[in-house]
Amino acid sequence: MSRDPVPGLLFRATELLEAEFAALPAFESAGVTDTGAMAKVLAATARRLGDNYPYFHPLYAGQMLKPPHQVARAAYALAMKINPNNHARDGGRASSEMEIEAVRGIAGMFGWAESESGFLGHLTSIGTLANLEALWVAGQLAPGRRIVGSEQAHYTHRRISAVLKIEYADIPADRRGCMRVEALEAELRKGDVGTVVVTLGTTAIGAVDPLDAILELRQRYGFRVHVDAAYGGYFRLIPEALEEPAQRAYAVTDGADSIVIDPHKHGLQPYGCGCVLFRDPGVGRFYKHDSPYTYFTSQQLHLGEISLECSRAGAAAVALWATQQLLPLTPGGTFACGLAQGRAAALELDRRLRGEARCEPLACGAPELDIVVWKLRAETAERASELAQKTFVACATRDLHLALVQLPLSWFEPEGTELSKNGAGMVTCLRSVLMKPEHKAWLDRIWERLTAACADVAGA
Ligand SMILES: Cc1ncc(COP(=O)(O)O)c(C=O)c1O
Repeated sequence: MSRDPVPGLLFRATELLEAEFAALPAFESAGVTDTGAMAKVLAATARRLGDNYPYFHPLYAGQMLKPPHQVARAAYALAMKINPNNHARDGGRASSEMEIEAVRGIAGMFGWAESESGFLGHLTSIGTLANLEALWVAGQLAPGRRIVGSEQAHYTHRRISAVLKIEYADIPADRRGCMRVEALEAELRKGDVGTVVVTLGTTAIGAVDPLDAILELRQRYGFRVHVDAAYGGYFRLIPEALEEPAQRAYAVTDGADSIVIDPHKHGLQPYGCGCVLFRDPGVGRFYKHDSPYTYFTSQQLHLGEISLECSRAGAAAVALWATQQLLPLTPGGTFACGLAQGRAAALELDRRLRGEARCEPLACGAPELDIVVWKLRAETAERASELAQKTFVACATRDLHLALVQLPLSWFEPEGTELSKNGAGMVTCLRSVLMKPEHKAWLDRIWERLTAACADVAGA
């Protein structure tokens, strides 16, 4: 494995940070300071962590797991010296400013940073919390009205709605995994829909809901549009690498009322970094509260005043800020090119699968983002599911780590054809999220292992 530059970077940056506080009188740390004892515990920690899939390696091509950038890891660890809390400026003065700047960078990607009316946004600990905040605000703006989302929307939307005590309904998806616009319109005609959750990049297959068509319906039926781009948000930077209709959906994200994006998915951040954005900064009024303990050190906005969470890791903001300094969110920039490489790897894997007799990719065509799914060809769904399980294991024995997903069988039957007898059922498929830039260069090695595993399973 190549040498990790983070310890060296961190060493130098720690010296600089310590120099910032050099004028303070020296003090002895209390507690266990025996470095030999700590080294022993850390050696045991490293051994324990070895019992993981190698998420950082290009041969890990399974779930949505992307290693944080080295600068993000170093900045996060550096911030640990301070351990700031971005609830209030009392607990994280510099890191609150860094959060505001980093969030402005993300809003800029969606076309909101320069808008005259401004926007409101902040980081959250996870995407689910960010979605909860967006739906909480939506519920207050449309009391008594329902929330609807595609049946392929993340499962947490239904659960969040239950927590908020707002009725939630599924809208059927088509064979591309996208929300059916005509089914949505039928639901809107009932007159009680307050919010539509639009997913740009579904968890299962990276499907992109038709945001453009849904925004048109909003003009007729009047509802709030919440975009869950927790996974797919950053693809807004590479429209040229996408196909229609996904391209059209990404072109109109500025028309949404709220957007969620997870820097801890595609944004090269350690876990603990979601983000919610509101087009209308006026929704800040719903967050209004008094805190008898904080908000004393500055008249400026404290992020706790516009966030449902109280304590939040300032280190998450520091890591994101540092990453965006190094890799600005600009079309054509290094960050955008990295995304495009993962997307190119996904298209290439899909192309090869279409020439492989044992495999059956989605009937609708190539992936919309960078997630590839395919079933194994077999007489029955049960047998195809069994083959997928076996191939998953056979790949792992070759150090290639894929994921499994349950999908409707109908997605493997061409649109317009009569569904076969079993078409309504589900089948276990293989799934590969190719979200690392390195996946492109490693595709031959991934393919070699996959085809060998398929051959093994077929011959068994
Ligand atoms: C589309 C989508 N929305 C929301 C979430 C939830 O995000 P988190 O796991 O950060 O809470 C996910 C997670 O995979 C997702 O893919």
